[in-house]
Amino acid sequence: MARARTVKLYDNLYLIRVEDDETGFFEALWEIPEGVTYNSYLILGQKRTVLLDTVKKPFTLDYLEALSSITELRDIDVIVVHHSEPDHSGALPELLKRVGNVEVYGHPMAKTIIESHYGVKLNSFKPVREGARLDLGGDEYLVFYQTPWVHWPDTVMSFYEARGVLFSGDVFGSYSIPSSVTDEHVEDFTTYIRFMRKYLATVAGRYRSWILKTLDKLENAGVKPKTIAPLHGLVLRRYIGDFLRLYRSWVSGDLDKSRAVVIYGSMYGAVEYAAHIVADMLREKGLHVAIYGFNDKSRALIADAIGDAFDAGYIVLGVPTYEAEAFPLMTYVAEQLCAKAAAGQRVMLLSSYGWGPAAIKKLEPLLTNCGFKIAARVEVRGVEYGDKLREAVEKLLAG
Ligand code: FEO
Repeated sequence: MARARTVKLYDNLYLIRVEDDETGFFEALWEIPEGVTYNSYLILGQKRTVLLDTVKKPFTLDYLEALSSITELRDIDVIVVHHSEPDHSGALPELLKRVGNVEVYGHPMAKTIIESHYGVKLNSFKPVREGARLDLGGDEYLVFYQTPWVHWPDTVMSFYEARGVLFSGDVFGSYSIPSSVTDEHVEDFTTYIRFMRKYLATVAGRYRSWILKTLDKLENAGVKPKTIAPLHGLVLRRYIGDFLRLYRSWVSGDLDKSRAVVIYGSMYGAVEYAAHIVADMLREKGLHVAIYGFNDKSRALIADAIGDAFDAGYIVLGVPTYEAEAFPLMTYVAEQLCAKAAAGQRVMLLSSYGWGPAAIKKLEPLLTNCGFKIAARVEVRGVEYGDKLREAVEKLLAG
């Protein structure tokens, strides 16, 4: 059951957070049993009341009710669209019906996307230029930065100078519905950081170089946030320096050589058998190993596997041969790893066949071309692995 809550972050700055535990698959792709939040913000400026983004459409009524508890909707002067993806713009058409005259600020492309998606006319749309300043009154401003492709091409970020608040869009966002609203009282950072990396990998992993450019650009522009207010997950305040360093490391492609991820498919158990042996061998070598499998009883969460693989030093892919091809689910995993997580990780390919070998030949070019380093291959009939698994582990860890 989703709910919307409002929290005062500063005297005149509110968070309206919708907590979505109903969406099973974010973007209809990524498994999120942990849920997700949609964060909208409201600034009650001396001169203007400014709403920053909305929420996903199914939660419109709960959201508007929560928003109405802070301000009369008709008192909203400006709505900022940091990017037009429907998880943040879905409530906009209903809101527009209720607020009357309102200016909408956003990237020029956002106007086209929103009008075509929702069949509305944004007659008072104000395209945001780099460095544009929205006067909030009382000598306070919201300063805009063009930050394309983090995550959509029409993305802008804004910085509330007087408070030091960066409205960062999807960047620094995370899956899950933390019980706290800010990072000041989080019980389990390890789990939260995994959800944040999973969000980055699945939603914006393809654009990590753009995110790095954005972080550089904001730094060069002298933006030093005291608070980061993303569109999903926690508002960051207490550990902002740690999160900035961590995020920069992720989008720079830094790899954690203390971690390995094993992902396998197994129709009748041969590859599963080998995958678990390899996982145990890697643990014996002192690595932290996460293992994800597809077999005839269960399927791993692909989103979690991709999130873990994003910065893991080593990846093992167990891929049976299926009708002279690679096992289809593992082909999909490999394609998504390429799209979202390739950063030079060393990879072991592990396969088993009945009729004849094929899987490695099919997958290796794909993985090599997108930037993985194939460090070891094991491909046997049935379970005739012998010493090959130990030799392959040595090769995998040799760099
Ligand atoms: Fe959270 Fe790109 O939308």
